[in-house]
Amino acid sequence: MKFFVDTADISEIKDLASTGMIDGVTTNPSLILKSGKSFIPLIEEICGVVSGPVSAEVASTDYETMWKEADKLRQIADNVAVKVPLTPAGLKVCKKLSDEGTMVNVTLCFSAAQAILAAKAGAAFVSPFVGRLDDIGQDGLSLIQDIVGIYDNYPDFATEVLVASIRNPMHIVESAKIGAHVCTCPASVIKQLYNHPLTDKGVATFTEDWKKTGQSIL
Ligand code: E4P
Repeated sequence: MKFFVDTADISEIKDLASTGMIDGVTTNPSLILKSGKSFIPLIEEICGVVSGPVSAEVASTDYETMWKEADKLRQIADNVAVKVPLTPAGLKVCKKLSDEGTMVNVTLCFSAAQAILAAKAGAAFVSPFVGRLDDIGQDGLSLIQDIVGIYDNYPDFATEVLVASIRNPMHIVESAKIGAHVCTCPASVIKQLYNHPLTDKGVATFTEDWKKTGQSIL
């Protein structure tokens, strides 16, 4: 399973990239706003830090302007994945970009029907938002199960399921059990994956006992 970090905070990205656990980055307009940075130079900087896909999202909703924005974004770096919304205009842009060999991440996917359209439009990634579905009392993970199952029925669908809007480590574990290709997570959730109280307790005991041996490895 690949891990993308869902942030536009360059220091968070650098910090996580140094662990070797990060395969890509996703951003969105809200994350860009939170970063307080200028969009294009920021994406360029992120693309220099992480060699995997870096999602940069269009801002317009009409086809013509969206296409122009997408065309500009894909020229920033080879590893930019242009992010478009799951709308008729977004999927039209997706089809054209994909036909021209540009990676596309179709975002704001909330149904299996929408995910089928994203695959038919040639998206490299489809982003179903599990947390936002959970927030309205629906089961985000059952959508992941449905999409992975449907895509498995059609080996010519090359679209990867990129689980988005992740709120906790169990979203990641359950997505892995289902066989989703990628999870995009806030840095805080990725860090939580390391934690277990028995690991902390075990390290403390071993450290104490090692000291008592009076030995040194170095
Ligand atoms: C996906 O690419 C989005 O940026 C993100 O996962 C949205 O998550 P949120 O629902 O926590 O805003």
